[in-house]
Amino acid sequence: MLLAKPVKKVFAKAFPSRLPNLKDQIANIPIRHFNFKFSPDELDVKFFMQKEWATAYFAALSIFLTYGEELVIETARHHRDQIQDPVLKQRLTSLIGQEAIHSKVHEEYNETMIPNNLPVQLYRFLAEQVFNHTFLKFPQPLKLSMMAGIEHFTAVFAQYAMTHQDIFNHSLDEKTRALWLWHMLEESEHKDIAYDTYQVLSANYPLRISGFFIALITLGLGVGAGALMLPFLRRPMNSFSLSFWKEAKGSWDLLFSRDNGVFGSSLGHIFDYLRPDFHPNDHDTTELLEYFKKELLDPETGTLTPYFVKAFTPALRM
Ligand SMILES: [Fe+2]
Ligand SMILES: [Fe+2]
Repeated sequence: MLLAKPVKKVFAKAFPSRLPNLKDQIANIPIRHFNFKFSPDELDVKFFMQKEWATAYFAALSIFLTYGEELVIETARHHRDQIQDPVLKQRLTSLIGQEAIHSKVHEEYNETMIPNNLPVQLYRFLAEQVFNHTFLKFPQPLKLSMMAGIEHFTAVFAQYAMTHQDIFNHSLDEKTRALWLWHMLEESEHKDIAYDTYQVLSANYPLRISGFFIALITLGLGVGAGALMLPFLRRPMNSFSLSFWKEAKGSWDLLFSRDNGVFGSSLGHIFDYLRPDFHPNDHDTTELLEYFKKELLDPETGTLTPYFVKAFTPALRM
């Protein structure tokens, strides 16, 4: 039976202390389909601030993230059956749907990297080894904490992207811009679902922190190593190129500067996860989300509107 009315009551019972932050998200996380029609000719290997190394981090992330998203989807599906609360079940369905589309669209995007000499097949092979032989063999409780950890990092990236929109405006590659802005919008939109699921089914603090550190090592060292090597695998002559080394400092700053870098300026947000009473909504992005939904998805003027196909919100099932 489909119900819309008693949502608030059910929700208040499930999340007594979080109601003000979360109530707006009930039945409001659509699964959106896009067709970006990516073309290899349009890909800018220096998309982020015209810095190749910094852009390489996000290229490597685009490849490895699809494996992380598969883990999130598998783990969310497994645990959805154990959730009694219909609202959380519905939100998990939204999470699964959004991540499935992210993974599919990033795969399409990653295909355009291949003719541009980016080592997509090599990185896919490496990611498969790591995920198939380690992460996907973890016991479900650890996978659940890893899912929450991954979703914390994507929420950090999303908040950074939404508060530093300028980094997307230094390239003519509109589709890379559209891809990341859409993905980051939705990461922020569903940022609390994996965490709430973890808290309902486990809430074990040491295990939550273990998942955080596994995600940190994967996204920091694993993707970081891929990013470090990528410009040389794409073009070995980069090793001898003065202009390449000259822009390296700019790449470093974009990633690690304490003032404005993706990681450097987000350290407080990243490690806030270690606080025992942390919750994703302690970092309020409600206004940012409203702003970006209008800017990206407005039927008349939205940046993403030319690529939009359809959307639906999963039903609440009691
Ligand atoms: Fe995603
Ligand atoms: Fe996500």
